[in-house]
Amino acid sequence: MTDGLIAPHGGELIVNLASEAEGAALRARAGVLPQLTVGSRQLADLEMLANGAYSPLGGFMTRADYLGVVNEMHLSNGLPWSVPIVLPVAAEQAERINVGQQVALVDADGALQAVMTVEEKYGYDKSLEARNVYRTEDEAHPGVKVLYQQGEILLGGPVRVIAVQAQVFAEHRYTPTQSRALFAERGWQRVVGFQTRNPVHRAHEYIQKCALETVDGLFLHPLVGDTKGDDIPADVRMQCYEVLLENYYPAKRVVLGVLPAAMRYAGPREAIFHALMRKNYGCSHFIVGRDHAGVGNYYGTYDAHYIFAEFDAAKLGITPMFFDHTFFCRTCDAMASAKTCPHSSDQHVTLSGTKVRQMLQAGEIPPREFSRPEVAKVLIAAMRVPLA
Ligand code: ADX
Repeated sequence: MTDGLIAPHGGELIVNLASEAEGAALRARAGVLPQLTVGSRQLADLEMLANGAYSPLGGFMTRADYLGVVNEMHLSNGLPWSVPIVLPVAAEQAERINVGQQVALVDADGALQAVMTVEEKYGYDKSLEARNVYRTEDEAHPGVKVLYQQGEILLGGPVRVIAVQAQVFAEHRYTPTQSRALFAERGWQRVVGFQTRNPVHRAHEYIQKCALETVDGLFLHPLVGDTKGDDIPADVRMQCYEVLLENYYPAKRVVLGVLPAAMRYAGPREAIFHALMRKNYGCSHFIVGRDHAGVGNYYGTYDAHYIFAEFDAAKLGITPMFFDHTFFCRTCDAMASAKTCPHSSDQHVTLSGTKVRQMLQAGEIPPREFSRPEVAKVLIAAMRVPLA
């Protein structure tokens, strides 16, 4: 690499998007191939495989990679990887497909998305995956729920992606190739990535800006793939970012992108996965705060920090930037964390998600120490149920 940016995971971006000519040839053949309808999780995975964000993966995992990831958090080539990327199908569907055969992957409308060469079909142990990846077998966990509902057989093998899903947030949907070009154009080498699935608040802003103080640029990268039903929709979260950037961030130091992947809620394992994807997008650093990618009480507040110590830092490549729980302290009159603030918790402005939601639904602006008023206004407008 001559642009000074971090190398992609595995050394080069593996872009599994068919060229126009290849796509035309695949389309012409696809009519005679068995068809498999894939859901939104796999469509998002196909986009990530197409754009190189899942480098070094060339398709859905075969058994060796799957087991390596579930049991050891490494692919069979020795590279770290923490979350399975798989194509589950029902047993009856799997019976109709022969190993070595190509299949056409179509969306719910029957539109061709990709052609996959099935290298392997294999059974797997859902409880083992639940325990190892999610650290719980509780079906109330949103990631475990998806796992338990999915098909019993996994198809593994390379994909050639022909179509990429509907381009919402088109102006922010940079591929890793595009984000890297953008960072290089701005002369950035040290870039910090920020993952988020929630509306932006002051603690997010604080840790983003603390991180930015020490690097060249900030890549704000909200996840816009599937999230659980009670999370705030991505379009609202993007509007929050737009007003925040307009009012409080220096445009030349920040890029707002979107991550099309689905949320797994796998806490620590997902922090590694989130970091590796951002490495592919060109980030040298990655923010990991409190209970990263967590849900309910399944993970300890800092488990997503501790998991990084289980890896060879050189193989991970991307450098995590850890943040303790942050809040506004009235006595400090500033944002702070337990690390930097000596005052008691009654001085700290912390609001539960439920409390904030209640305030917003009632049209009340939360304290400015918690949320920027511009952001709160966007949320109130989005959440207010019109009176009958
Ligand atoms: S997540 O599922 O994407 O992790 P969220 O959007 O809430 O959820 O968090 C984005 C990032 O900010 C994560 O790294 C998370 O750990 C961090 N974070 C969120 N709130 C705080 C906070 N009050 N203090 C420190 N870090 C936080």
